[in-house]
Amino acid sequence: MAQASHTRHEQWSSGLVFILAATGSAVGLGNLWRFPYLVGENGGGAFVLIYLACIVLVGFPIMMAEVMIGRRGRQSPINTLRRVALEEGLSSGWQLVGWLGVAAGFLILSFYSVVGGWALYYALQALVGSFSGISSEGAGAMFRGLVSSPVPVVFWHTVFMLILFGIVVAGVRRGLQRAVTILMPLLFALLILLVLYGMTTGAFGQTLHFMFAPDFSAIDGRTVLTAMGQAFFTLSLGMGAIMVYGAYLPSSEHIPRATGWIVGMDTLTAIIAGLAIFPIVFSAGMAPGAGPGLVFETLPVVFGTIPFGFLLGILFFVLLSVAAITSGISLLEPPVAYLIESTRLGRRGATGLLVGGIWLLGIAAGLSLNVWAGVRIVPGLDANIFGTLEFLANDLMLPLGGLFIALFAAWFMRSASVSEELDLLHHGPVYRLWRVATRFIAPAAVILVFLNATGLFG
Ligand code: PFF
Repeated sequence: MAQASHTRHEQWSSGLVFILAATGSAVGLGNLWRFPYLVGENGGGAFVLIYLACIVLVGFPIMMAEVMIGRRGRQSPINTLRRVALEEGLSSGWQLVGWLGVAAGFLILSFYSVVGGWALYYALQALVGSFSGISSEGAGAMFRGLVSSPVPVVFWHTVFMLILFGIVVAGVRRGLQRAVTILMPLLFALLILLVLYGMTTGAFGQTLHFMFAPDFSAIDGRTVLTAMGQAFFTLSLGMGAIMVYGAYLPSSEHIPRATGWIVGMDTLTAIIAGLAIFPIVFSAGMAPGAGPGLVFETLPVVFGTIPFGFLLGILFFVLLSVAAITSGISLLEPPVAYLIESTRLGRRGATGLLVGGIWLLGIAAGLSLNVWAGVRIVPGLDANIFGTLEFLANDLMLPLGGLFIALFAAWFMRSASVSEELDLLHHGPVYRLWRVATRFIAPAAVILVFLNATGLFG
């Protein structure tokens, strides 16, 4: 593998590997667990529409900016921002944006790993045949039984973190490449199969109506903030995960095209996950707003009924775990890269230190679903530790990080450097579109949504 001239890091062997790795980062629990339950909780179609608008107008241009900055700096987000800022004659203080991102990644991985642990637990349940003939009440009870018990929640969170440790220490590339080239398409095929099943339930029309007929009366400032936070979360934006993957991207690859693929595949996966899950929800008479348990309370019912459900159930939850792992890796990689660059720690030491810290915080997140359910850490925010971490990181820190990245790329970097790195003609339409989106639309959207969520507009 080639070593870039001014970096201690490896590079992807091709642009395709980058697309696959970044898609592995983007497609995860955010698409299959979080997106469907947020749609359910936030009234369906209007939420989907706002989410899609955020993806196109905010997420897409910011992803291009992140990859572009990453490839120019070729280091961890913190040192990348520092280097690019200095090269552009700007203040090295821009590295604070990298710190914000690394902090967000730390917080996100702590609760992400708890949910990744649930996926592992469900894979095991599928294997031992627990779904056979299960009713929707039974599946609900199984999920509540899991999250209300501290021991299994902490145990599976620990297993998830250990798996991440093993992969990140062993070198990201080999494991990741295999996971995304073989397993992601398989997951996609399985989701399509579930959508086909959904069409036979008689509730598919209702699902289409729910997901695509917007009812704006269900929307307020907080909903828009949630949709935007989800757009950042699902695309792995605003915290440097995509930036660090961009840092390993060979110079010959065309950033706008690669970004198009990643955003397209991620969005399609989320929509298909919704189309797979809601027919089951409606045909079983369940509530779409059931919350974080939605995927876990619906799919086992199907796997317990359909032919080959036993095998499909195992396959689905194994693949869900894999999708969570490939995203978890990208949450861990920015701080690991930073520690390798800036301390005497090697990859193993850096990973071990971070995994230990995140594991401890994850225990608090896991326990806040049961024994510490009443604990509040942010005054005025009525959420347990899990919900607080999720709110602070996803809804505030990611959009804020994204805002600064957009401002940096479109207002502060020299336009000539940007168009060169993006490999776009300075006066061409694509560059112009990107620039308008990144200069005006994305920052304005983030700022307006923030102001709106504080209740400023009533
Ligand atoms: N995009 C991942 C998902 O949708 O599950 C979650 C994620 C990964 C968020 C990496 C942020 C990140 F940096």
